[in-house]
Amino acid sequence: MMPTYTKDRVIISTIYYNCCAAGNFRHGADVNVADLWKFTPLHEAAAKGKLEICKLLLKHGADATKKNKDGNTPLDLVKEGDHDVADLLRNNQGRNFTPLHLVEIKKEGRTNPNRTKFRKLSREVCGEVCDIPENNSVIFVYEKRPSKVSLIGEISYQFCHLKMASPGSNFDSEYYSQITFMFVKEDYQLQGIGKKLVKKVLNEFKSHDKIRPIRIQSAGRAVGFFEKLGFVKEGEIMETVCGISVFRFMQNMERPITMPT
Ligand SMILES: CC(C)(COP(=O)(O)OP(=O)(O)OC[C@H]1O[C@@H](n2cnc3c(N)ncnc32)[C@H](O)[C@@H]1OP(=O)(O)O)[C@@H](O)C(=O)NCCC(=O)NCCS
Repeated sequence: MMPTYTKDRVIISTIYYNCCAAGNFRHGADVNVADLWKFTPLHEAAAKGKLEICKLLLKHGADATKKNKDGNTPLDLVKEGDHDVADLLRNNQGRNFTPLHLVEIKKEGRTNPNRTKFRKLSREVCGEVCDIPENNSVIFVYEKRPSKVSLIGEISYQFCHLKMASPGSNFDSEYYSQITFMFVKEDYQLQGIGKKLVKKVLNEFKSHDKIRPIRIQSAGRAVGFFEKLGFVKEGEIMETVCGISVFRFMQNMERPITMPT
């Protein structure tokens, strides 16, 4: 039987390493046991770059969201260069994991440096260089770790033209508020970041105008994502002349005003 408490985390982690090696999880060991400093075995293994031990601990239910006394999760303790361990902890957290406590969402201006930043991330995510369109606003998402700050997501959008009395014939008429582009870095997808971004933009739209629907010309592969956020398809999916890329298939979508944000 494993101890549930000790004040020496070296002892605790050593016991656990041995335990892992001996396959003793089957005998009821508490995989999330913590010491005085609230270090769990996963904190120790992550900090020491022990990939196989991390895998084993996660497999046996280690909680990667647990924070030690300093507020750090195991992922926060991974040393620079231990990419395998960081990727494992980032991607293999299952239902428990969300890096949202490290995420900062920030509205910024359409300045030249920001346009460069925006293009760079769009290219990284989908291979296409997309600029922030004129008259658009932009929100960036950063992951803020003590060691570095990285850009991990972005969205550009345009407020509806309130002076326009009726929509033009184009789907992307300025009569409507619109999301124009959005990208979340691959490693960070499916962790709720996209949803958070869209919700922030929907709230901005709402404070600008409560009457008009919101539109997007979605990339074919993102249709399911926008449907989850209340957008509905308008017409059929269209093949564009852009060639093989994320924007080869486009779907017009609209979010009805009756949909709560
Ligand atoms: C589309 C994109 C912005 C979504 O961002 P994300 O951070 O991965 O999305 P989230 O984790 O917030 O997902 C929110 C919900 O949508 C679902 N979802 C995400 N992408 C989806 C997709 N392509 N199809 C269907 N559902 C999807 C998620 O499972 C999640 O569902 P849940 O709320 O039931 O758990 C991101 O995948 C991306 O940048 N893709 C590449 C570029 C692109 O296609 N951009 C759109 C250009 S218009």
